[in-house]
Amino acid sequence: MTFRISPSLLSADFAKLGEEVTNVLAAGADWIHFDVMDNHYVPNLTFGPMILEAIKPYAGNAMMDVHLMVEPVDALISSFAKAGADMITFHPEASRHVDRSLGLIKDLGCKAGLVLNPATPLNILDHVMDKLDMILLMSVNPGFGGQSFIPETLNKTRAARERIDAHVAAGGQNILLEIDGGVKIDNIREIAQAGADTFVAGSAIFNAPDYKAVIDQMRAELAQ
Ligand code: DX5
Ligand code: ZN
Repeated sequence: MTFRISPSLLSADFAKLGEEVTNVLAAGADWIHFDVMDNHYVPNLTFGPMILEAIKPYAGNAMMDVHLMVEPVDALISSFAKAGADMITFHPEASRHVDRSLGLIKDLGCKAGLVLNPATPLNILDHVMDKLDMILLMSVNPGFGGQSFIPETLNKTRAARERIDAHVAAGGQNILLEIDGGVKIDNIREIAQAGADTFVAGSAIFNAPDYKAVIDQMRAELAQ
């Protein structure tokens, strides 16, 4: 199993985002997770496509994993695609027409994914599995970094893994399974055992003095 670690810039130093991207990739991160919040879909406000465009050159070939917590989503998709998003994920509750929004993302050449809040059931995925490159399960309620992992997410992760495996067994494409919120050194192995392959970690990495030490310890946990 290949695991990916996607540090969330939400907990990075906003006064030096480019440097933070360089440093966290040098520390061994695979992707960069970019949390877009609009103070409408979620009660917080972060950054938009201009900031993404400014930091993109610092990311080299690393995937820009853009998590849209905005409503409505469609009008912003092309701006983020042009600004350098590689993966765009959104919350189905924030789109009137989920299938159309997924299609917009794919038409712009990006990978597409859906984000499920803790209380959003998995059956919302039923009729769009063919269009998904990734499923992102929120393990906290969206809006803030530094919250505690909601344990019920482990059951949901196992159920999502079963769905993906059944989809692949039936001839479908592979779909990545990402977990976002409260991921730490001491729970990452349990989350991986439940079936996740991609991990967002914000405060666990950026609030630590040594990013590489945290990422190395996370990888050591995943290797066990
Ligand atoms: C929450 C964001 C997360 C958050 C993760 O709405 O989507 O990406 O920044 O932060 P930690 O790892 O600190 O829970
Ligand atoms: Zn996120």
